[in-house]
Amino acid sequence: MTTERFFDYKTLEDIRAASRELDVDVSFEDQLDAVFRPVKIADRTIGNSMGIHPMEGCDGTLDGRPGELTVRRWRRFGEGGAKLIWGEATAVVPEGLANPRQLLINEENMKSLADLVRETRIAHRTRFGSDGDLLVGLQLTHSGRYSYRKPLIAYHHPQVDQATYLDKANGIRIPQDYPVLSDDDLERLEDAYVKAARRAFAVGFDFIDVKQCHTYLLNELLGARTRRGKYGGDFEGRTRFIRNTLGKIRSDLGNSALIASRLNVFDGVPFRKDPVTGVGVPVPYEIPYRYSFGIRRENPLMEDLKEPIELIRLMRCYGVSMVNVSMGSPYYNMHYGRPFERSPDDGYFTPEHPLVGVARHFRVAGAIQQTFPDLVVVGTGYSWLRQFLLNAGEWNLRNKRVTIVATGRGAIAYPDYASDAVRDGALKHSRVCLAISYCTNLMRAKNNELGQYPAGCVPRDEIYTAVYKELLASRAKPRPVHAKP
Ligand SMILES: Cc1cc2nc3c(=O)[nH]c(=O)nc-3n(C[C@H](O)[C@H](O)[C@H](O)COP(=O)(O)O)c2cc1C
Repeated sequence: MTTERFFDYKTLEDIRAASRELDVDVSFEDQLDAVFRPVKIADRTIGNSMGIHPMEGCDGTLDGRPGELTVRRWRRFGEGGAKLIWGEATAVVPEGLANPRQLLINEENMKSLADLVRETRIAHRTRFGSDGDLLVGLQLTHSGRYSYRKPLIAYHHPQVDQATYLDKANGIRIPQDYPVLSDDDLERLEDAYVKAARRAFAVGFDFIDVKQCHTYLLNELLGARTRRGKYGGDFEGRTRFIRNTLGKIRSDLGNSALIASRLNVFDGVPFRKDPVTGVGVPVPYEIPYRYSFGIRRENPLMEDLKEPIELIRLMRCYGVSMVNVSMGSPYYNMHYGRPFERSPDDGYFTPEHPLVGVARHFRVAGAIQQTFPDLVVVGTGYSWLRQFLLNAGEWNLRNKRVTIVATGRGAIAYPDYASDAVRDGALKHSRVCLAISYCTNLMRAKNNELGQYPAGCVPRDEIYTAVYKELLASRAKPRPVHAKP
């Protein structure tokens, strides 16, 4: 098993040299300036070009309301100085929850979600004097095959089905004839998104994200080439759900509602751990590849942005004014979405230098931005760059390869990264994300009495250092048996 260390750069010159050596298109500016510029998003203007990606902490109550740690995280984001807070994955129906502690948007939970927005705004106002230039959104999701109660799949994907469990603890996978969601199920779900959107605006969110990333249900539908019926097959069928849903949300909420989408522009193929080297390798596949979105069918390890671009063009017709560009699956090819130093426990050693992964993020976001120069494009994949992430973001902004630079793991490690940048012109290396995946390990750990540990930054936030210790101690003991709810 290899234990190579990647991030070993003390200066911008060091990391620039690594980019040159790897021959990747990642560049850095010395001085920060563009990251501090306001950005116009539809009829609103936010105070700088820095954002926080959706980062769930799996710490809601068992009925889907924000818990104490949820409120703490959002407050910290509010105090952090980034002017775009892209709120975390929130299920639109209970059967679409990814874990027992994910947020759920329904009638009963509206008051606590309203409190969450209010607390976030108060935190921002208290620190910065006003919150008129802050945008807070909510990501609406259905976890599809990763729903924790039972997998709800859009189609059968032979390799992914192999890792889709009815009962993970006992290694029971879905059978070959496991039913897919019916067209009627999907049509009903479109209406659930409309209700959720209405509620999100009613409780005070500035925008909603109809989530289409990370291989959850709406992303899976985009790649459902082999699905029969009206929601699969050709591009028109595969995009029917999102087109119908956006159309219904528009007619329900009118033209002024700010709608965004976090979109996988490249799904890739499943990877598994090589039993000898521990390195991630693609699971064998046939050509032309029959699954997934944004891939070259003759070489699905490479992106093909034709369909994602076409989809964004369509979404713009429904007034989608912001696209957060992402890729990959956190379950089966995690190096794409979250370039890491050390993988999660259920992962593999990265098959590529993380800087190559960062460059892929920048390349695809850059291509989308260049195709749609006036679209607000939010970029992903910055956190591995540690204290240099804004220097790379600055270069991308100046070269019109992105509109907003946002961080995910970086923000739970260092929620006030943006205000430090404004004050000092640089980030503190002692506070940045180390990309060692402990947060993901916590997300995947189910063996406590709530069926889910809360997730946060283990090295940088002592609350989670303690939770991680508890998790490790529990692993040393025999595991309690939990009935599935
Ligand atoms: C603990 C954890 C929670 C996450 N929660 C969400 C989420 O709710 N919605 C989402 O779209 N992505 C989620 N992500 C992915 C991040 O938003 C982001 O895309 C990813 O970490 C890569 O960006 P980064 O390099 O800045 O971390 C999560 C990632 C982690 C590690």
